[in-house]
Formats: sequence, C-alpha cells, structure tokens
Amino acid sequence: MTQTVLALETSCDETAVAVVQFKEDRFQILSNCISSQADEHAKWGGVVPEIASRMHLEKMPFLLEEAMDQSGISISNVDAIAATVTPGLTGALLVGSITARTLACLHGRPFLGIHHLEGHLASVLLSESSPAPPYLVLLVSGGHTELIKVGSNLSYTRLGRTHDDAAGEAFDKVARLLGLPYPGGPVIQKVALNGDPKAFSFPKGRVSNPEGGFYPYDFSFSGLKTAVLRQVESISSAGLEIPIANLAASFEEVVGAVLVERSIKCALDSNLNSLVMVGGVAANNRLREMMFKEALDKSIKVYMAPKNFCTDNAAMIGTAALLRLKSKSRLSSLNLGVSARHGLDQCDLLYQIDPPF
Ligand code: KG4
Ligand code: ZN
Repeated sequence: MTQTVLALETSCDETAVAVVQFKEDRFQILSNCISSQADEHAKWGGVVPEIASRMHLEKMPFLLEEAMDQSGISISNVDAIAATVTPGLTGALLVGSITARTLACLHGRPFLGIHHLEGHLASVLLSESSPAPPYLVLLVSGGHTELIKVGSNLSYTRLGRTHDDAAGEAFDKVARLLGLPYPGGPVIQKVALNGDPKAFSFPKGRVSNPEGGFYPYDFSFSGLKTAVLRQVESISSAGLEIPIANLAASFEEVVGAVLVERSIKCALDSNLNSLVMVGGVAANNRLREMMFKEALDKSIKVYMAPKNFCTDNAAMIGTAALLRLKSKSRLSSLNLGVSARHGLDQCDLLYQIDPPF
C-alpha cells in the first residue's frame, strides 16, 4: 500500500518541509525543502529563540508551496500531515505544529505529532541499507547525546546519556571559544583537517556512579570544553598565537574516541550487533571513519543516516510519521500542543485521545 505524508520540522533553527512516501517497501522522498537560519543566529553566537520563531513564520508559507509543487501531489491527497511537537524551542515548535493542524483541518486530513528524536532515529531508513530491530543507536545532535536500544514496534530504551552538554553543543561552544562561527561542528571539522589530532591531550569525561566506579555508557563534555578553554587561556597569556587547527583536531579526535568507545562497549554488553549513528554530529567525517573502523574490528555492523539527513530536516519527520501510520498507532488529537521536553520512551502518548500536553 502506498502512503504519503506532508511533514513539517521547526524545532530549532531549520525551517523544513518534506513530502515522503512509503511505496514498494521503501521510503521515497518526493520533496525535501530546508531553509537554514544558521547565518542569522551566527551573528549572536547561538540560536536566539525569538528570532527562530519569527523566521519560521516568515519562511513556512514559501517552503510549503515549494515542497508541495516539487512533490507533484495535492495536499488533499496526502494520508497525513505531520509536525515535530517535542522536544525543542516552544515558540519554534508552535509554528510547525499550528501550521500542520490548520492544514489538517482545512483539508480534512489526519494530523500526527512527531517526537523530534524519533525523527532522527528514522533518518537511517533513508540510507541504502538499514538494520532490523533490535539495534543500538548513537543519537548525537546539538541537544542530545544518547545511546538508545530500538526494539520492535517502535519501542525505545535509553541505555546511555550525557550528564551535561550534548556533543553538538560541545562543538558549538568550543568553536565559539576558538573564535569560529556557529554552528561549530562543520567549521571545526574543516579547520581540523589542517591540524594534528595528537597535539593536545584532552580528557574523555567520565561520569562517576555514586555507588562506585563510572557509568559505562554515559557521557560528560563540559570538562572537555573547560580543558580547551584553559589551554587557550594559557597559550594566550604566554603571548603566543592560538593553534586553532591543532586545538580543533585534538578536540574532534577525543569526542570521536569517546563516542565510539562507549557506543561499542554498550552494543557488545547488550548483545546488539548492529549499531546506528544519527543526528547532526553523525555528519562528522572523522567520527564516521572511527566508528566504521572500530566496529569492524568488533564484528559490529554499522549503519549511518546519509550526511544530509543527519542534521535537522523534515524528510526524517515524514519517515517517522509513515512508521507511525504503518504501526497503526492512533492519530494525534488536534488538541495536541507542543512541549520543550518529553521522553522518547513516552512517544506513544502523542497518539492518545487525551494528549499529554
Ligand atoms: O541534529 P541537529 O541538526 O539539531 C539538533 O537536533 O540538535 O544537530 C545540530 C548539531 C550542531 O551542534 C552542529 O554543530 C552539529 O550538529 N554538527 C556537527 C557537524 N554538522 C553539524 N558536528 C560535528 N561535525 C559535523 N560535521
Ligand atoms: Zn535534531
């Protein structure tokens, strides 16, 4: 059976609209339109929520028109209209959610509220090959760093998490202290190409368990960020030039090492031989290379979302919506609002008659 959804994503600083279809056993992207606000936020060194909401409002009508035109499908023929409803910036989420619910009412189409992280998890289905559950996912974005076991029937169990900054947030903050623009990930990756990853030795950031030892699958990036800051301070107080490329390369290397090491340990300890990597930081070339190499050594099969679907986009939201439609979840209530936070393990609540928010 062919099913088609129109999907909207406005949880942070990308306004995105896509039309995705499930046909002949695979997901097909009929259109995928994105307008990034990164340049605007770069002026402020990070995302300004008020600017994000306003820009989503300005861009949304044009992106909708473009996405529908490119898809060749009429809005009254889609099976559902989906929007990210959590987690994210509340004002930003509201733009996508209200637009989707209004269109659903106008065209008499069902509405599906989607959890942004379920969207990231679904992004691997847009690659050439993807595993069957159960498998382990390393979800590394600007807001999240988590190890999630994906079971059948869209069940999610979190096995690891960051206790402070997300990996992407660390890239953004370190870029800022090196005087590099927002978003930090892509620019650190570029600058690091000319640096020596062994020039500086930065800490891997472990999280102590009050009952003794360390949490084996958890992360902490705030100490790493401080270590880079201290290094920059000591070099500049000595009146020397800041070796930006070496600092960027050494930082990128330790982030990659820690993500790979803990993900592989978690997969092995959990008897999962498929490992998936998604989210904005999963676009990082060095991380991808390290993950493939280490996993191969341990006979773990690695699957990654295509790089252009790692960072926020609406095609992944549409893919998650199609999974929900296929799983025969209930549709979302038009009274479903938005929420800055909502656990991924509580995703099913988005399809209840009485919505959780
Ligand atoms: O998934 P995403 O677009 O948004 C969230 O849901 O957070 O991730 C954005 C994050 C930013 O922190 C950005 O610096 C990081 O992903 N990022 C990267 C790369 N591309 C984006 N980090 C490392 N290397 C990259 N190539
Ligand atoms: Zn995201």
